[in-house]
Amino acid sequence: MATTLAQAIAWGRSRLLRAGVASPDVDAVLLAAHTLGLGRGDTEARAILGAPEPHGYRDLVERRARREPLQHITGTAPFRKLELAVGPGVFVPRPETELLVQLTLDLVRVWRGAGETHPGVIDLGTGSGAIALAVASEDPASRVTAVEREPAALEWTRRNLAGSRVRLLESDYRDVTVESAGRFCVVVTNPPYVPDGEIPEDPEVRDYDPPTALYGGDETGMTFPCAAMDTAVRILRPGGSFVMEHAESQVAAVARALEDRGFRDIHTHHDLTDRPRATTATLPGPGPGG
Ligand SMILES: C[S@@+](CC[C@H](N)C(=O)[O-])C[C@H]1O[C@@H](n2cnc3c(N)ncnc32)[C@H](O)[C@@H]1O
Repeated sequence: MATTLAQAIAWGRSRLLRAGVASPDVDAVLLAAHTLGLGRGDTEARAILGAPEPHGYRDLVERRARREPLQHITGTAPFRKLELAVGPGVFVPRPETELLVQLTLDLVRVWRGAGETHPGVIDLGTGSGAIALAVASEDPASRVTAVEREPAALEWTRRNLAGSRVRLLESDYRDVTVESAGRFCVVVTNPPYVPDGEIPEDPEVRDYDPPTALYGGDETGMTFPCAAMDTAVRILRPGGSFVMEHAESQVAAVARALEDRGFRDIHTHHDLTDRPRATTATLPGPGPGG
């Protein structure tokens, strides 16, 4: 007997649940939506109306059950108002990183309110280009630069940035200087910060995110975050701001490292699940309007 879409989704849900996938309900529907070339709502509506199981659905569920990331299977990742192309070689953007975009937009707005027509923003370690593209598209007056070093990630960066206003620097972010990039009102970064010995448990992260996007360079995970701070000190304007994502366990170490480098107004920010996952800080100087 032919299987309906609703029966296939129910099967997909239980298959993914057994495989240990964290969000089996959503993933089962989104894989069906991808197979049909429809949105989630339309797919659920079709399931209610008794549509047949789409061809190829079970193969996609089996890939997901082997813990291939959903975003690698569909080829896209939602981020703020964007759909980014992602796949092997690039870090899949996470919902918690959307907080960095909001913090950056808030700072850019202050600079613009103080008369800076096109505040400069630079995203260190842009990966898919998520942060840079979201800032550029949500605040079209901002001038956004994105920096990425890894060749495999750069394939995706170039693809996502094509046709956008974002300038791409194919470089190590530790080498960025005022001569190579200019001066910025805001430096934003989601650097590699996982302590070297802390191998993530989720296969989607451990086996698919590039190690160069994850590991922070030592047992505290702070080498690359501190390198981003050093670059920020060099390329920020006086009174400019630094915005960085980090692990919950790194709040105190991040604040100390920023203080050591002369930053002030150091604030920790909580993500949607109320975890302290981002810090902002400002360099001394006149700042917006000064
Ligand atoms: C955690 S991922 C963040 C990617 C993206 N910004 C996001 O939030 O989804 C860190 C990114 O920094 C890049 N990266 C790591 N070290 C770098 C370096 N020294 N210079 C430039 N990019 C670097 C990695 O290749 C990776 O794309």
